[in-house]
Amino acid sequence: MDIVLATRNAKKIEEIRRMMSGIRVNILSLADFDCPDVQEDADTFEGNAIKKAVAISKCTGHAAVSDDSGLEVDALGGLPGIYSARYAGDGADDASNVRKLLAAMQNVPNESRGARFVCCIALALTDGSIYTFEGEVKGSIALNPEGSSGFGYDPVFYPAGHGITFARMDAGQKDSMSHRRAALEKLKAHLKKIT
Ligand code: IMP
Repeated sequence: MDIVLATRNAKKIEEIRRMMSGIRVNILSLADFDCPDVQEDADTFEGNAIKKAVAISKCTGHAAVSDDSGLEVDALGGLPGIYSARYAGDGADDASNVRKLLAAMQNVPNESRGARFVCCIALALTDGSIYTFEGEVKGSIALNPEGSSGFGYDPVFYPAGHGITFARMDAGQKDSMSHRRAALEKLKAHLKKIT
């Protein structure tokens, strides 16, 4: 089965290709097609992932896989959530998002700094059926940024049971416990069944 990945992020494409080796799918990327960008304007990770997968499947005529992910912080009622990439507003980057998060958490005591990364992957098949797979990693928000690996909120996220932030881990260690990996494992198990 041909599957188009609804992302232009080279790191994600690489990770998904690696993960899918050994199963009978041919991974194509958006670079192989001329499809318009899809607005991520749904109000859940699942809604955004489904919207992208369906649009790309319709545009290409192949099955499509897309993902949406972000950080949910308990003390902020789940924010930044679906707004993770643009939490600090127009022109936000990783550094400004992290600064805004730490400022919002300034008076939050250690025992209330719980958070989770969430990833939702959607698979849209050419017969119109849709499947979603969710992964999460629980943890807590640091008082200050620590480490320089990874991206996004990695410098302020302590995965539960580990004494270091994601940004102090090497890529392999982070990937092995990430929300994206957990969702991808579920997608892979499903694809194994249907191919
Ligand atoms: P997207 O799903 O790639 O659009 O991710 C949305 C945003 O969530 C990113 O821009 C990051 O700010 C944040 N995010 C998602 N996954 C991670 C992660 O593994 N580490 C750090 N930040 C993440």
